[in-house]
Order: sequence, then C-alpha cells, then structure tokens
Amino acid sequence: MVSVPTIQFRPVELPPSGTLVVFAGDGMALGEAARRADAASDGFISAAAEAQGFKAKRFGTLLVPLPRGLSVRSLLIVGLGDAAKLTEAEWAKLGGTVAGALPSGPDTDVTVFAEAPDGPLTAEQAADIALGIVLRSYTFNLYKQKSADEPEPAPRAITLAVPSPAAAEARWQAMDAVAAGTMVARDLVNEPANVLGPVEFAERAASLAELGVEITVMEPAELEALEMRMLLGVAQGSERPARVVLMQWKGGGTQKPVALVGKGVVFDTGGISIKPAGGMEDMKGDMGGAAAVVGAMTAIAKRKAKANVIGIIGLVENMPDGKAQRPGDIVKSKSGQTVEIINTDAEGRLVLGDLLTYTIERFEPAVTIDLCTLTGAIIVALGHYHAGMYATDDTVAAQLSAAGMATGDQVWRMPLGKDYDGLIDSKVADMKNTGGRSAGSITAAQFLKRFVGESNWAHIDLAGTAMGGPTNEISRTFGSGWGVRLLDRFIADNYEG
Ligand code: BES
Ligand code: MN
Ligand code: ZN
Repeated sequence: MVSVPTIQFRPVELPPSGTLVVFAGDGMALGEAARRADAASDGFISAAAEAQGFKAKRFGTLLVPLPRGLSVRSLLIVGLGDAAKLTEAEWAKLGGTVAGALPSGPDTDVTVFAEAPDGPLTAEQAADIALGIVLRSYTFNLYKQKSADEPEPAPRAITLAVPSPAAAEARWQAMDAVAAGTMVARDLVNEPANVLGPVEFAERAASLAELGVEITVMEPAELEALEMRMLLGVAQGSERPARVVLMQWKGGGTQKPVALVGKGVVFDTGGISIKPAGGMEDMKGDMGGAAAVVGAMTAIAKRKAKANVIGIIGLVENMPDGKAQRPGDIVKSKSGQTVEIINTDAEGRLVLGDLLTYTIERFEPAVTIDLCTLTGAIIVALGHYHAGMYATDDTVAAQLSAAGMATGDQVWRMPLGKDYDGLIDSKVADMKNTGGRSAGSITAAQFLKRFVGESNWAHIDLAGTAMGGPTNEISRTFGSGWGVRLLDRFIADNYEG
C-alpha cells in the first residue's frame, strides 16, 4: 500500500528537520541520545513533558510542535513504562504507537532514537519497532475516492538511529519479509468477494512464483479426479469454480516439510442453511486461514527460509442455489469416509477435511497445521485476543504457544477427546458435519481430526483473530494478517538450521 513507509537504519545524530521521536522510561527517564538532545535544547524535552504532566507510561505519547532549541519541526515523546519488562511483541506495539502519533503535516522525514533509558536497543528490538511502524501504517483504501483537497499523503521515510546500523538492517531484512507477508494476508482478507473469487485468489497465490515458490493450481476436473468430493460439494452452489493452490518452498534440503493448510471460503452465506443478514458482509473474510498461509509463504520465501514448507489452500464460495448442496445430503470424502451434511453452513471443515487427507497422503509432512475461520463458537470461547489451537502433539502445542507469545499472534490450546468425537457420529453416514449446540469449536476440530490419521497435526481456529476484531497499535483494518507472524516464527524457531 502507498502509505507504507520506507525504513532505514543510521548512526545516532540529531536530525536537522522533520520529526524527532524519543523514548522515555517511567518518570521521563531518557537514554543517552535523548539526554544529549535535551541538553542541546536547554532542557526543552524534559520541560515540555513536565509542563504537560507527561510521565512516560507505556504507550503514552506527547507530540510537541516546533520544539524550542531543536531544528526539527516536531518532537514526539513515547513512553516505555518499565523498559526492562518490554517483550518483543510490545516493542512492535511501541512502533505502532509511534506511527499512530506522528504529526499529519507535510513533514515525511522521521528519526527515531532507538534506545531505552539504560542503553541503545538491540538490533532485534529496533527491527521490532520498524515492524510495528510498518504494520500500523498499512491502510486499505483502494475503493475510496480521494477528494482533491485531501490528496494521498506521501509515504514517510523512517530512520531508526542505532549505534550499529548494519546489524539492525540485517535483522530488518527478515522482519521486512514478515511485514510484507502480513500485508499480503490483510489485502486478501480486505478485498470484497466480488473482486476476489476463488479464481482471482488463486491468481494472487500463484504470483508467489516470482519469489521462487513452486505453484500448482488445481481446477475442478483435477479435484474430481483426486476425489475431493467433500470440498467440491461446498463449491457446487456457486457460479464460480473451486480452486486448490499448492505452494512449495524448498529451502531445507531433504527435511520432511511443514504443511500449512488454509480454509479459503471467499464468501460464506451459509449456503442452503443460510445465515441471517446482519453482519453477513464480514464473511468476505472467511478466507482468513488461506490468507495467513499465503502471507506466511510470502514471508518464508522473501527471507529465503532454510526450511521445506508446503502451503495448500482450498478456495470455494459457499452459496445457496438450485445446484447447492442440501442438509441431509451424504457426501463421500477423499478419505473414503462418508459425511451426512446437517448444516451447509459448517462448510469449512468439509473443505479442510479433503485437503488434509491429500496433504498428509502425498507429502507425509513432519507436522501439518491447518488454519481456518472455522467457528463462531471459538469467538464465544476466546474472543478476539487468542486463536483456538488444537494439537495431537504436546511439543508442537508448546512450540505454537511460544511462537504466539513471542510475536503477539497468541493461541490458546483447546482440548481434543473421544467424548467430543462421539458428538459427530451419524446414524446414516460415518459422521455428520455438526455436533450440536455445545462445544462447537471442539466438535469442528474433532471432525478435522478424522482426516489426519495418526499424523502430527495442529489446527488453529482464527475466526476471532483474522478479521473483524478490535483495532490495536499495529492493526487498523478489517483483515489483521493474524497468523503470518505466528507461522513464520514457528518455522524459524523449530524447522530451520
Ligand atoms: N465461517 C464460519 C465461522 C465464522 C464465524 C468465521 C464468525 C468468522 C466469524 C463457519 O463456516 C460457520 O458458519 N460456522 C458455523 C458452524 C455451525 C453451522 C455448526 C458457526 O460457527 O455458526
Ligand atoms: Mn459457514
Ligand atoms: Zn465459513
């Protein structure tokens, strides 16, 4: 997007123009560079904070125009609170706070003194701030006309002042890839379904070929041949044909791959079991899982990860129609198991089930992780601040939790179990596609589990986190890009090197 700033790292120096950003710890404790700027301006920085009662609490900001004694046109003071306690995810949020508090005037040059009271930030922390600045700056306004008196603002040029620019720059290379992947995912979720159908989504995913990702796009005839009847059953009510896109990144020699499987329902009306009208427009985001997979593949390819990663997404539209699937229909999945359709709105699991069978049979991955905006029930359980995570393996569960804590894409482990599994037994088929009123997210997970055999599998229900959640320091649009940072980190920490 045009509004995304450029990032560079430079040695610490007082900027001659634009905006200067300094961090301050509890009680307006300043680092060395900020102290020097304060001294050079005859104590203006501390005096301004004092005059405004600004105490530098975490995420607090004070913007001062035309700071006396400095040649910049604006000074932004950003509070760290107790700087020693800041986590990686919080440094990124601080970057977001910086971007959100910058003056909206004509000055596009911004210099950030990347330091805490007790010393310069590490290369990682400086890159985290840059990540937060970039993610916060993302907008989605493709479809809004700009008025002549309010032209599109020029992108900002952000300079992070650090003692070792080269180290921070190197770290940023990787983070920049993750930022790009996150924005790819956001764009996909934000696009309306009239623009982004299964075919168009597949084209966007196929553009990853430019990054060295091997792409295979499968059309309905091939999906028929692969016996993905359960996936095709969802698509059969739509004018727009299904697509499955396979993305392969081969950066890890002979290692078994990590497989990422995404639900890409470009629009979900519920089908014949049609949803109520209120809020149905949000179901343009029912491809948030597929978007996270494409975003993660983008990040992984851009930073040339030393890992083998497979992304696979099932792109369909769930519509009511004379040809649509009905409640009561019995479909045969690729696995051979039959499914009684109770509710055509429980379509995500039908798409995912066939993809899981295909992926595990064909690639025997080290671990298979599916991501899907699968159930409203996970929003009831966890709200918008954790995605639901299910795993057959405790180590993978712990690794996903750790990656979530580190990046801020947090997951909360939910239970699997035989008792829940019984809730999806059917009288007329091997299983039914809904499990009744209670434990809706868990029974959906149990359904998927019936398609993974004994393999190492995790499932992430991101219905509450991928789209439509509250805005925060680094995410301001409908699509959050949630999951890209989680997956990238999970792979970086456990499947590389
Ligand atoms: N796409 C929805 C789940 C969803 C809800 C995603 C809210 C994002 C926000 C899914 O296909 C669905 O409709 N699930 C049903 C399942 C039910 C019919 C068993 C649901 O959650 O109501
Ligand atoms: Mn649905
Ligand atoms: Zn859905």
